[in-house]
Amino acid sequence: MTGLNQEPLLLRAARGESVERTPVWMMRQAGRYMKVYRDLREKHPSFRERSENPELAIEISLQPWKAFRPDGVIMFSDILTPLTGMGIPFDIVESKGPMIDPPIRTQAQIDAVHELDPDTATPYIRTILSTLRSEVGNEATVLGFVGSPWTLAAYAVEGRTSKNYANIKGMAFSEPAMLHQLLSKLADNIGIYACHQIECGAQVVQLFDSWAGQLSPMDYRTFALPYQQQVVRRVKAKYPNTPLILYISGSAGVLELMGESGVDIVSVDWTVDMAEARRRLGPGMAVQGNVDPAALFGSKDFIRDRILDTVQKAGRQGHILNLGHGILPGTPEENAAFFFETGKNLDQLLAVPA
Ligand code: CP3
Repeated sequence: MTGLNQEPLLLRAARGESVERTPVWMMRQAGRYMKVYRDLREKHPSFRERSENPELAIEISLQPWKAFRPDGVIMFSDILTPLTGMGIPFDIVESKGPMIDPPIRTQAQIDAVHELDPDTATPYIRTILSTLRSEVGNEATVLGFVGSPWTLAAYAVEGRTSKNYANIKGMAFSEPAMLHQLLSKLADNIGIYACHQIECGAQVVQLFDSWAGQLSPMDYRTFALPYQQQVVRRVKAKYPNTPLILYISGSAGVLELMGESGVDIVSVDWTVDMAEARRRLGPGMAVQGNVDPAALFGSKDFIRDRILDTVQKAGRQGHILNLGHGILPGTPEENAAFFFETGKNLDQLLAVPA
């Protein structure tokens, strides 16, 4: 049993402490695969309303908590949420995804990006995070999250989700000084925003550099890594004990470089075998992941086998069970329930000595 005064399991695991079982949560655990979410979305079709009206954002964040009791509860929001407060307005359009219009392509637009004041720009964050903390108490860990500079810049410069990132890479390779200015401004602001989330109650913060896996390792060193480090330095200077997680999609080629970011936990996608990820990251780094989200379209036996494969390769300590990317729309809810249930009852399934 978890003692009432004991810190929650996922937080202790994230700090690298020895824990009684592997904690489990899912990226995008609140969202379209849940009927309660789709019903609420019909009544409130604007993504920005759902994420910026604190009552709605709290209700949505708690939908998976009520249904599955995961060990982590992530606030319902988006990586783009703080951009408006820096002078980059955005919208999220059904079936198109994020839209930034006009996209940021000129020096004058980059000069106009300004410092974020979270209490003024994103006042709902305090209500959302503090309420989530009081709702879940010590039974779960409340996670905040931010986008990393490269990925936020990718949206800002492309103006939307992109297949080849030709605009931002074009800027990187022809006007590097200009892009570095944008990345550095984003890094300062994201550092401020992550600190703000911690002040408001986030116990762990995940950095999403989702599209940094699009960079060659050499370009990753130039355009992604230094700005991840800038964010991490800023947060660790103020909150050295708050664990930070870094997630990248398609990260197999840059896994070791992720370890250089300064985060405490690397979230591994499913393109790397977990045993190999452990070897490449070394014993000092905790890991999260890495079940293929599409595994949840398989049978229960298949899902259980994939979970067992991951946890056996990750080992008992320094691992947070998760998917290798967000849960996919259309995933059967009972399979999501089975993922959590199995994750929480691994000891009955594994003949691994504690
Ligand atoms: O994990 C959670 O439950 C918290 C919710 C969350 C959302 N976005 C809500 C959301 C999180 C952690 C994010 C992060 C995010 N947003 C990332 C990083 C994670 C990743 O997927 O790599 C990125 C790249 C974005 C940008 C973004 N926002 C995209 C690409 C989309 C469209 C995706 C799609 O499939 O349509 C969004 C919209 C969005 N953010 C949705 C949700 C639940 C779907 C739209 C909706 O529900 O109306």
